[in-house]
Amino acid sequence: MPDSSARRVRVAPSLLAADFARLGEEAIAVAAAGADELHLDVMDGHFVPNLTFGPDLVAAIRRTTDLPLHVHLMISPVQPFVERFVGAGADIVTVHPEADPHIHRALQQVRASGAKAGVALNPGTPAKMLDYLFDLVDRILIMTVNPGFGGQTFIESQVDKVAAVRRRLDKDESSIEIEVDGGINRDTAPRVIAAGVDSLVAGTAVFGGTPAEYESNIELLRHG
Ligand code: DX5
Ligand code: ZN
Repeated sequence: MPDSSARRVRVAPSLLAADFARLGEEAIAVAAAGADELHLDVMDGHFVPNLTFGPDLVAAIRRTTDLPLHVHLMISPVQPFVERFVGAGADIVTVHPEADPHIHRALQQVRASGAKAGVALNPGTPAKMLDYLFDLVDRILIMTVNPGFGGQTFIESQVDKVAAVRRRLDKDESSIEIEVDGGINRDTAPRVIAAGVDSLVAGTAVFGGTPAEYESNIELLRHG
């Protein structure tokens, strides 16, 4: 059994659920409220059926906070844009295997650009997809919704995937981190924490309510 009690769970607010008219202030507010990292969802209307923003916005957020910036790329192809996001200030860049014909090279490119590399598994993508990628990644992002939108319902079957990846990493004594993304709230967070995640992405559950509530929203996710 993984010892989830020993792990300090990190919380990464997704700016997708923030007030887009006040993004800088929102980033500053969640940083002050105890966020461990900011999660920036980049969508292209092609890999996923929604559009968000590009490297210029990442650079603007970079100027507002010292928190690590995690850029979750939901774009296809990936490789033409990696260096621009790292240049904009991304500390970690996560890519989906289905989004680039050469995921191995795309992950190498992320690290060569100077950022940490993450790989994201869609709900329908088996953990086996990771078999030849472990040596190239710092983080595994297990999608607990289908990517594209905030505010969706958590997909229960992914708890088993988290547990399976946790077992594999523990067996290998690996320091790769596991993060979950989508539908994380007070009810679902304890389940993925018990299954062994290191970090929770949360949009709706953090940015719901007023900025005065962000701190308690984050703590409720972290500690239940
Ligand atoms: C979905 C994004 C998520 C999204 C999560 O494609 O990857 O990061 O913002 O939003 P919530 O926490 O509202 O499900
Ligand atoms: Zn995301």
